[in-house]
Amino acid sequence: MEKSRIDLPIGITLDRFIKSNENQYPNAAGELSQLLRDIALASKVVNREINKAGLIDIMGNMGQQNLGGDEQQKLDLLANIRFTRALSKGGEACGIISEETESFIDLKNKGKYIVAIDPLDGSSNIDVNVSIGTIFSIFKKQTPQDQPLCEKDFLQKGRNQIAAGYILYGPSTMLVFSTGQGVNGFTYESALGEYVLSHQNMSCPENGNIYSINDGLLDDITQKGVITYLDKCRKKRLTARYIGSLVADFHRNLIKGGVFLYPPTTKLPLGKLRLFFEANALAFLIVQAGGLASTGKENILDITPTTLHERVALYIGSKKMVEEIIALLHQE
Ligand code: AHG
Ligand code: MN
Ligand code: MN
Repeated sequence: MEKSRIDLPIGITLDRFIKSNENQYPNAAGELSQLLRDIALASKVVNREINKAGLIDIMGNMGQQNLGGDEQQKLDLLANIRFTRALSKGGEACGIISEETESFIDLKNKGKYIVAIDPLDGSSNIDVNVSIGTIFSIFKKQTPQDQPLCEKDFLQKGRNQIAAGYILYGPSTMLVFSTGQGVNGFTYESALGEYVLSHQNMSCPENGNIYSINDGLLDDITQKGVITYLDKCRKKRLTARYIGSLVADFHRNLIKGGVFLYPPTTKLPLGKLRLFFEANALAFLIVQAGGLASTGKENILDITPTTLHERVALYIGSKKMVEEIIALLHQE
């Protein structure tokens, strides 16, 4: 059953917003609300640390790589610790899988939920004071609560997400999330220490003027349909915009209308972005906002995952733009 969207006035705090929506989840008994509050709290701590990044020794490289082979930055690890700590203290989540850790973390409690998180997205932009983010997905534990947490609890389709969202640490910090009743955006008012509703029932324009891709990949793209699509974008004089922080690129396209593309390449034949930590959450949000997310062959939300760190091709944003890419890929 489609849940009804709730219209609450601009300016109310995240806390009040969550409380007013609690009756939508009769079985959740406030646990989901508390989980969202825990994430919001951790994000405030991370936000404070990001704001100080130029002043204290938390910028730069750790000199090691994570599971996906990315260089780990100090802030990647710091953010990972902040979110993991907040979730483990909160007690509503029984397990976490993070982009920065090889396996899942069993929090050994009776929590109903599991969380997948990209604690710091766009980490190559940390050192140059460009917008970065956090991405999270919330699922219900699949196996009965009295059974120990296992990989099966995490290997769920994106469609099973109970909630998903992101935090954008930009000129202002925003928390954007959905519990399946539309997408709402909250701006952080640092003097009050509160997230305040600023973007009500966000919707992504059906069509847009922006396409976002790393142009340096062009000679390595393995799908002809993508090259054709990019030619069409140039011929239509669309605008190319690419920040290199997925959250920031996604946020702009969500508001203005546009499409983000990360296709398979010769170097990364499965694509670069991770299903659990990036694609699933943003797919949940874009669908809630009226847009679409696809690998070109499959709706992101329908992928049955086989590994926790799997990568996918990602075409996400305005519905008509993503549909055009899918159609071109079908003609190959
Ligand atoms: P992360 O910092 O979490 O590893 O994510 C980086 C991702 C994403 O934010 C961005 O869209 C993409 O990598 C950029 O990749 P390229 O540098 O290959 O364009
Ligand atoms: Mn990321
Ligand atoms: Mn990351």
